[in-house]
Amino acid sequence: MSTRNPRRADFPLLAANPQLHYLDSAATSQKPRVVLDAMRAYYERDNANPHRGAYALSARATDRYHDARERVAAFLGASDADCLVFTRGTTESLNLVATAWGHANVREGDEIVVTALEHHANFVPWQQLALARGARFLVCPLTSDHRVDLEALRAMVGTRTKVVAFNHVSNALGTLNPVNEIAQVARSVGALVVCDGAQGAPHLRVGFDALDVDFYAFSGHKMCGPMGIGGLLGRRAILEAMPPYQFGGDMIEFVRDEDSTWNALPHKFEAGTPNVGDAVGLAAACDYLDALGLESVLEHERTLVRLAMDRLREVDGVCLYGPSPSERSGVVSFTMAGIHPHDLATIFDQDGVCIRAGQHCAQPLMRRLGVSATARASFYVYNDEHDVEALVASLRRAKEVFAGGGELLPDELVPCRGAR
Ligand code: ALA
Repeated sequence: MSTRNPRRADFPLLAANPQLHYLDSAATSQKPRVVLDAMRAYYERDNANPHRGAYALSARATDRYHDARERVAAFLGASDADCLVFTRGTTESLNLVATAWGHANVREGDEIVVTALEHHANFVPWQQLALARGARFLVCPLTSDHRVDLEALRAMVGTRTKVVAFNHVSNALGTLNPVNEIAQVARSVGALVVCDGAQGAPHLRVGFDALDVDFYAFSGHKMCGPMGIGGLLGRRAILEAMPPYQFGGDMIEFVRDEDSTWNALPHKFEAGTPNVGDAVGLAAACDYLDALGLESVLEHERTLVRLAMDRLREVDGVCLYGPSPSERSGVVSFTMAGIHPHDLATIFDQDGVCIRAGQHCAQPLMRRLGVSATARASFYVYNDEHDVEALVASLRRAKEVFAGGGELLPDELVPCRGAR
């Protein structure tokens, strides 16, 4: 086998733990030294509350915040940086749209369409909006290889459809969705197009200006950035027409006793002290990924996914979910007959293999797959074939540990509905 991936040296946590096989980047990525250094430098040299102080240090913090916004927007292909609203992450971004745009625009009898592939963050806010407004909430089914069924989507949308919300890449299966094709279906009935990019932005060139969506939500911590920051990209006209989501400092223009008016974009949607340190870290993460080249990031992940799927298929009892490697990012979801995914994850952990096991915040999808949980390995820039081999070796060991280990639970008797 080849030597370890040299990228590991860029990530202090991985460099300090050579035996660790970190296969949970879809949950959160590790952080390169350049990101940690950028944040430390900000706090050591430039920290103050931006937009508020009349002193040079505050002006410097303001500059750092604006510079971070420009760099993150450029990385995501958005030429109008004011249309990038910093949030805590994808969940907050999607709640922002569902709450601010949704309550202003969705009426009784309207319809909201999501897909069966959604993370709860792009499912529940729309479901709750529909319940609050008396709208219908529709879930687009999947094909047998776990892609969005475009025929079903076409049949599902109509003149009452107000929103079509879907992910760029499924967090649970890695399925890569054809954003522009789905958007076209939504556009044909004049619906708002909302894309959850939490698992897209870390792996694919987003190219927001050319992407046919109204909103694109993403999280910094899955793309080498810090936790606690992410963003919402939106079209200027829609953002300008949309009411604020939260009220407080920075987002106002004039506050009269009777009423208030709002600051310009993006500040209208950024109430309170901004998260400058994390924005600086996220900008450094974007620079890091840009230097690697997102095309080679995806190619690297696909190579590992292909290898992992081939090697896992060699193990009797494994059921794989999701489409072929060329239609997914770096995620492999699987079950093992007779062993609950949580037990797998525990055995893997003993071997230094970190995976996620469970419902992946996607209960509607798990119901449709006919399982209560899967084991999920997710690959990123620092992984290599040693991680794949460690995963497979640990799975074989789990089989030995559980050999003859009692009766199967009903859930484990479900026939494999994945892509063996
Ligand atoms: N959404 C994250 C995941 O898929 C936490 O694991």
